[in-house]
Amino acid sequence: MQHKKLYIETYGCQMNFSDSEIVASIMAGDHYTMTEQAKDANVILINTCSIRDNAEQRVWKRLRELKSLKKKHSDVQIGVIGCMAERFKEAMLEMQPEVDFIAGPDAYRSLPELIAASTAGQQTANVMLSEEETYDDIQPVRLHSNGVSAFISIMRGCENFCAYCVVPFTRGKERSRNPQTILREATDLFNNGYREITLLGQNVNSYHWNQDDGTVIRFPQLISMVAAIDPLLRIRFTTSHPKDLSDDLIQAIAQHRNICRSIHLAVQSGSNRILQKMNRKYTREYYLERIHAIRTAIPDCAISTDIIAGFCDETEQDHQDTLSLMREVRFDYAFMFKYSERPDTIAAKKFDDNVPDEVKSRRLEEIIALQQELSLQSNKNDVGKVVEVLVEGNSRKSAAQIMGRDSRNKVVVFDSQELKTGDYADVRITRCTSATLIGDEL
Ligand code: 5AD
Ligand code: SF4
Repeated sequence: MQHKKLYIETYGCQMNFSDSEIVASIMAGDHYTMTEQAKDANVILINTCSIRDNAEQRVWKRLRELKSLKKKHSDVQIGVIGCMAERFKEAMLEMQPEVDFIAGPDAYRSLPELIAASTAGQQTANVMLSEEETYDDIQPVRLHSNGVSAFISIMRGCENFCAYCVVPFTRGKERSRNPQTILREATDLFNNGYREITLLGQNVNSYHWNQDDGTVIRFPQLISMVAAIDPLLRIRFTTSHPKDLSDDLIQAIAQHRNICRSIHLAVQSGSNRILQKMNRKYTREYYLERIHAIRTAIPDCAISTDIIAGFCDETEQDHQDTLSLMREVRFDYAFMFKYSERPDTIAAKKFDDNVPDEVKSRRLEEIIALQQELSLQSNKNDVGKVVEVLVEGNSRKSAAQIMGRDSRNKVVVFDSQELKTGDYADVRITRCTSATLIGDEL
């Protein structure tokens, strides 16, 4: 049997990276092995993101580049998969003649047939969304892995319908994966030397699995079960919606030392008027109360967030409310974006994208500048403390330096001769930048 070569390029969120690992596994079943070089591949897959217009623009640009490769190697099959495939559907095949086939996020099992048809000269598409598909029987091929950290996808889809967001349209209905298959995958990873698992879902807090005996497993229970695999296995999770961040989850984190002290809780805006318009289903006061609950139960917990600047009708006062909320929470880290209108969303249908681009940019810059101050302050507060670091490898700057993360997901760099990837080390922090803690091994 001759092995064919597969090249995958992934854009977007961690869920997409996790999906590429599922795709690699499905393709391995059809006798494909991975290559790092697009030019050596028989099949090229571009796993795409639609979250903001600039994410899509990057993919269009990349597809134009691949056109010349296709001219040189006319037998290479190029497929677009993921959120853009779902959003544009068959129209994508017309827009990009060099695209041979497309597959949406729930159609990856059909990739071998799509590729067979396109090899026979037929452009093909499968963009059916599913209410059941969780790929739970598929063992992902770990791509670009450091051998220490891995993702496990525990649920798919989203039904929150935040007004700005395209995800409910590209990834379909919410569904949870069988917990037994999650536990098996986590145990296998641990036995293969992995020490950190991130449980992934668009909204992990609404995870629920109905068992045959009539009982329900929810996220706090699931994460506790994964944490019980071994104290040396660290557990992270992302992402949670503030409206579903329960006291039970906070308690589960507090009770397990190996569930990481790091919660990503996207706030999006600090203004109640904008939160309501965004259909976020919580208020600024509710969000601050959740932060208070986290800090009371888990005093050393890092809190990170997502913020959107310049949503429809956002006034200067709304923007100031976002800045003041940031100061009040003192986020350790944030992902910050300019609002980008997405076709089909509630906001695109009902509201005017009326904040001028230069105003969006200026507000975003102010948000980024403030976050940089907050991150630096948060890191300065760590100088003198001892943190437990999971070693991920050598630092980018020097082979004698080790890079890892502490439980709060802060990057820590220190000198060491003996430590290996996957070891734990206690490190005393001596200095910092806004992005990195630097210290000495104890
Ligand atoms: N424009 C800008 N940012 C967006 N996000 C989601 N949709 C949009 C959009 N249309 C951001 C949100 C979300 C993160 C994954 O991306 O902050 O939490
Ligand atoms: Fe991930 Fe959303 Fe981008 Fe799809 S659109 S890849 S779900 S971030």
